[in-house]
Amino acid sequence: MNDELVFDADGPVLLVGGYGTVGAELARMAASSWPLVLTGRTVQRGQRLADEVGAELRTWDLADSAPFRAVVSAVVTMANDPDDRVLRAAISGGVPFVDVTRWTARLQRAVTVAALAGPTAPVLLSSAWMGGIASLVAAHLGDRLGGVDTVDVAIRWDLGDRAGADSVEFMDRLGLDYEVVQDGQRHTVMPLSGASGVRIGETLTRVARIDTPEQFTLPLTLGAKTATTRIGFSSPASTAALLAAKRLGFFRWGRGERFTGVRRGLLYAPGEGGTAQLRIDVAHGGDTLSATVTDPAGQAHLTALGALMGLRRVRGDDGDPAPSGVVFPEQLPSPRSVPSDLAAQGVDLVVHRAVREEHTKDRAA
Ligand SMILES: NC(=O)c1ccc[n+]([C@@H]2O[C@H](COP(=O)([O-])OP(=O)(O)OC[C@H]3O[C@@H](n4cnc5c(N)ncnc54)[C@H](OP(=O)(O)O)[C@@H]3O)[C@@H](O)[C@H]2O)c1
Repeated sequence: MNDELVFDADGPVLLVGGYGTVGAELARMAASSWPLVLTGRTVQRGQRLADEVGAELRTWDLADSAPFRAVVSAVVTMANDPDDRVLRAAISGGVPFVDVTRWTARLQRAVTVAALAGPTAPVLLSSAWMGGIASLVAAHLGDRLGGVDTVDVAIRWDLGDRAGADSVEFMDRLGLDYEVVQDGQRHTVMPLSGASGVRIGETLTRVARIDTPEQFTLPLTLGAKTATTRIGFSSPASTAALLAAKRLGFFRWGRGERFTGVRRGLLYAPGEGGTAQLRIDVAHGGDTLSATVTDPAGQAHLTALGALMGLRRVRGDDGDPAPSGVVFPEQLPSPRSVPSDLAAQGVDLVVHRAVREEHTKDRAA
């Protein structure tokens, strides 16, 4: 494959997967700032959006060997890219790059690909929960506390919310153990272990472990000795069904192709729209700050906002110089601006001092 992305500071921003569920949200947020090119396999699906935001539509099927060429000022990936085509083309063309699609193993591969290729332009791997928002808020709280000892993320997934077909692959990984750092030690844990109730906003939500990239990066970037992310559904019955399936070992023996439909059916039943909500607790030196992030426009909007903040950063449009090489969302130079960046897109951030014990009991792996 000879994909070719050529850098031109005045060129359009390329949104790969740009008319998908997350992509369309980003296209609407970004259209007033930059000309856009939206790509996907079946571009007719994006026609109405392209007309609405004044974007160019182009076909780029990441599973097809036909090469893609474009002259662009930056690229955001919002479609799974199993062969790293967008990443490789961006690095080789010196094009600033943001990706929100990678589960931890794929993010680790991206870091390796980038290390071998030696990027000159920024490569922002922003696949932490909600396009990096979980890590941005953790960095903000750590900045206020003067350091980060532990980070606990608790996600309330609204079953009424919209999610695209491309999101399902990520959820297929519930049968695979993964590594976390706890009290400075590495442990392998099972997905959906460590279940307990956490108050997220107004509601008590039962949450359990899930493999997300911030649990890999936050110990390396912010020095967290413990980083834990857990997720629960807005419907207690759905969370109970998921945890029961885990107890029965379904996610291990049901891993094969034969069970793909059943497995995905348990997890993927998108609705018409909902509220994205997550809680991030950061502790340092005996003090804990707890943030609740609420986006009434839903998870696709919040993820797109994470991508937008990343896009501004890699372009150097947010007042700070653009980073060079591989970078993660939490490594931002000005974490103080996170609340205003969220508020500008209608996202609510409430921060208060927390009693730490409430959030950490019942955490055995
Ligand atoms: N980091 C986070 O917290 C977070 C949160 C939400 C979503 N995500 C990730 O963001 C991505 C998009 O999610 P979504 O809900 O927006 O999914 P979606 O609605 O299915 O959108 C995917 C987009 O990519 C295109 N696409 C799919 N397969 C492609 C391929 N082989 N080659 C080129 N384009 C392709 C689709 O258009 P065509 O079908 O026409 O090709 C569509 O425009 C997923 O990878 C998901 O895991 C991350």
